[in-house]
Amino acid sequence: MKKISLIVGLLVAMPAAWAQGEDTYADFKAMMDRSFKTTGIASKHRIYQLDFQKACSSEKLPSKKEMARIEAEQMKTIRYPADGKYLGDWKEGEKIAVNGRGLTWTDKTPYNNGGGCYNCHQMSHHEISYGTIGPSLLEYGKLRGNGEEVVKYTWGKIYNAKAFNACSHMPRNGDAEILTEKQIKDLMAFLLDPASPVNKK
Ligand code: HEC
Repeated sequence: MKKISLIVGLLVAMPAAWAQGEDTYADFKAMMDRSFKTTGIASKHRIYQLDFQKACSSEKLPSKKEMARIEAEQMKTIRYPADGKYLGDWKEGEKIAVNGRGLTWTDKTPYNNGGGCYNCHQMSHHEISYGTIGPSLLEYGKLRGNGEEVVKYTWGKIYNAKAFNACSHMPRNGDAEILTEKQIKDLMAFLLDPASPVNKK
């Protein structure tokens, strides 16, 4: 008898819980809102999803047309270097690529963040530890050369990956002000300079 009432109870309770799905999300958001406050450079806007992030987090991915609309919108955020120089110092770039720290509330400045590139990419020949969420970038410059199209695409991808794939997992390093223009230049050199360990064994 106990078993039957348990099953009946579940049958009644489950659809009610499903119907409440939206409310539960609203409650969750309200709870997050109450629990977090801006501290130092860690400002509260980080807990709110932008519209396109919301679309990419829903159960069904946005339609092709919607993805193209998001990408065109994100493309407009890309700022190319004002002095027209895209490549900095690969040695500095390597340090940024291996560094995954920064953006915390104890950081005094927002401009000392690492790029955390190795969390997702294989890059140089001598680094043995790397993530595989993103494709391998080993020999990136050697395989693609330094032509204008490659240089501009690589800059854009690092600056705002969502301009090329609306629901990309790669952070918007330039647009979200994680990395500075100089840091992106150094990363560009790390990927494209023929002397960089990405391109040389
Ligand atoms: C959280 C994972 C993640 C991090 C961190 C990340 N990437 Fe990516 N990256 C990706 C993914 C996934 C792709 C594949 C394309 C896509 O979905 O956007 C990609 C693509 C790229 C591409 C284009 C590759 C191609 O063949 O066209 C470049 C260049 C790149 N990343 C550079 C970087 C650099 C430099 C950093 C560090 C500042 C970085 N990525 C950090 C996930 C990441």
